[in-house]
Amino acid sequence: MDSKFAPKWIALLFLGLLLLHVDRAAAKDYYELLQVPKGASEAQLKRAYRKLALQYHPDKVTGTEDEKKVASQRFADINHAYEVLSDPEKRKIYDQYGEEGLKQAQQQGGGHGHGGNDLFNFFFGGFGGGQQEEEVRKGHTIYVDLYVTLRDLYVGKELQVVRDKAVIKETSGTRKCNCKTKIMTRQLGPGMFQQFQTQECGTCPAIKLEREQEPITVHVEPGMVNGHQITFFEEGEPLVDGEPGDLVFVVKQAPDARFERRGHDLMHNYTISLVDALTGFTHTIDHLDGHKVTLSATGVTKPGDYHHIKGEGMPVHNQEPKRGDMWVQYTVAFPAKLTEEQKATVRKLFG
Ligand SMILES: *[C@@H]1O[C@H](CO)[C@@H](O)[C@H](O)[C@H]1NC(C)=O
Repeated sequence: MDSKFAPKWIALLFLGLLLLHVDRAAAKDYYELLQVPKGASEAQLKRAYRKLALQYHPDKVTGTEDEKKVASQRFADINHAYEVLSDPEKRKIYDQYGEEGLKQAQQQGGGHGHGGNDLFNFFFGGFGGGQQEEEVRKGHTIYVDLYVTLRDLYVGKELQVVRDKAVIKETSGTRKCNCKTKIMTRQLGPGMFQQFQTQECGTCPAIKLEREQEPITVHVEPGMVNGHQITFFEEGEPLVDGEPGDLVFVVKQAPDARFERRGHDLMHNYTISLVDALTGFTHTIDHLDGHKVTLSATGVTKPGDYHHIKGEGMPVHNQEPKRGDMWVQYTVAFPAKLTEEQKATVRKLFG
């Protein structure tokens, strides 16, 4: 192997990422469903589709009924996305005008031919009958931490990533490739054999690494959890004579000053005055997206008491409008000291 392809150098190129935050609600698009960037090649799309279709195929999915439902919806979405993106004409319309444009084109009788049947053949012809997929060597998966706030995970966020990508390109000249080691036996004389190893190689065009700037859009979706992995298929480390590895963004949530996430629930501490604690109150707090949540009590609130507010927790990823709850725990701000007169009044009241 050519020493020009020092792995360290490749890794460094990949980490040359530039994150631009764009505050916009997340929406599932077809590329995202297939875990590839907009510029993905047909072969890349096809391999991504195969992998995901296998993963979400109703026969393969285990788990709770809810998880199965999500998976079967995902399976249908993946099929639909691939049906569109694998058709160059439909893909062009989708790239320019989105899903709406596609619907209009179909209503006008533009859509034809490709679809259902082809997919069926591809799917069942492709991996049916116990046929084994050929093992393909893949480059390393590259993991990149994606720092987000709790608010991003509540409302969703679109991130534009400009990636400095290393791409393997052919160049002039040739190189040895596809080398296979063989054990050979040679007869030295009557009854005497010698075994030895030999390498047989093919000849391929020489290659070089080129840098390409590639824009990637990452959607942080409402309800994603800390550690959630967003995969871009074959966008990782390139491999000579193999397929590139994947690029995986790992969601990392920065601590929030006001809310603590526990599963789908949000915990919040709220301080009230002693008067409020004794006589009741109505206050509002700002939720992560700015909407108001009302806290109120008519009776006595003791330090450490909880309010359980249903439906004010985090969205449940891929199961909207399902949401967790909010738990507000009260702290009571006692006065630092009372005057003699105040003490006398309190004694009269409670004594
Ligand atoms: C609330 O206060 C408790 C005790 O001080 C602390 O452990 C917890 O992290 C706080 N929770 C939030 C959401 O700030």
